[in-house]
Amino acid sequence: MTVFWTTWIIVLTLGNVLFALWLLSSTARKKHGDAAAGPETTGHTWDGDLAEYNNPLPRWWLGMFYLSIVFGLGYLVLYPGLGAYRGTLNWSQANQWAGEMSAARVSGDRIYARYAAMDASALQHDPQAMQTARHLFAVNCAQCHGADGHGARGFPNLSAANYQWGRDPDTVIQTITEGREAAMPAWGEVLGDNGVRQVAEYVYTLSGRTGEPALAREGQALFATYCVACHGQDGRGTAALGAPNLTDTVWLYGGSVASIAETVTKGRQGQMPSQGSRLTPIQIRLLAAYVTGLAEESNGQQP
Ligand code: HEC
Ligand code: HEC
Repeated sequence: MTVFWTTWIIVLTLGNVLFALWLLSSTARKKHGDAAAGPETTGHTWDGDLAEYNNPLPRWWLGMFYLSIVFGLGYLVLYPGLGAYRGTLNWSQANQWAGEMSAARVSGDRIYARYAAMDASALQHDPQAMQTARHLFAVNCAQCHGADGHGARGFPNLSAANYQWGRDPDTVIQTITEGREAAMPAWGEVLGDNGVRQVAEYVYTLSGRTGEPALAREGQALFATYCVACHGQDGRGTAALGAPNLTDTVWLYGGSVASIAETVTKGRQGQMPSQGSRLTPIQIRLLAAYVTGLAEESNGQQP
């Protein structure tokens, strides 16, 4: 602030205070104790005998005005108000914000430092840790995986007993930190409609269901040729490739013959966005413990 504006503000502010003081003292007349003459009036009369009393302000009322002036002056000494003068407390919005932030950071760091020393199962049994994790999940993950982590079509159910990319703590931490890009190729052109139908029937039977045995038998041969490289000889998947287990009841894109045929025809490229730049390693460890804990609660069955 330039000297001119500082002076301008100081003169204006203090001038106002002084003016208020003058106004108060000039109107605060003493009560006239002249009982015989009766109360003083303003001198106006209406309708012949209607007069207006001219009483001074009550003392306590006046006192409040003086007090507010004292308060105002005190405030101007302690806090910034007079131009560039910073006040004896050296208060500023920026200072206050910085102070509150560093207090919050210190208490946050203390909480996270406690979690750093705990392994996944200890975290899962710590109510405060899981409370923090639930909050992190709601803010960062629920929009895709659902508030309860049960997912939706295309978004994995994290309470499942099997994870597509692997369920041990380190793998889940890697999944969350780096993200995942699944690459299920499109087989429509290679297999044709018939071939797709046959292999879909075969995949359908892998989870213990019976479809059309004749088609499934044809499909088995196609599966052995085109699919085992990723989904494995027995169809149980390969976590390193993110190729899901096709023998369980958990389906990312649907387990009906039609859904399976659509997956096989068009391929699928599910993407889990990496979180490493948004969350700290300790937050990610907490989340990994939380989502794998979901599996134990619900026994991993997807409806
Ligand atoms: C190159 C490796 C690879 C090959 C070969 C492959 N898949 Fe996949 N498959 C994947 C991956 C990875 C996914 C997961 C896609 C995702 O998460 O978006 C997947 C997903 C699927 C799914 C969806 C499962 C679900 O839960 O919804 C089906 C069904 C499937 N594959 C069937 C097949 C069949 C049948 C073949 C052979 C014709 C085949 N796959 C060949 C890698 C492969
Ligand atoms: C923008 C949507 C989105 C957000 C946000 C998201 N995810 Fe995912 N996540 C996905 C998708 C899609 C997949 C499946 C990728 C695939 O097809 O392989 C996935 C996969 C996963 C997997 C692997 C599951 C398996 O079966 O291997 C885990 C674990 C996971 N997410 C945890 C999280 C956590 C924890 C968060 C929050 C920090 C999160 N995700 C945020 C979309 C999301």
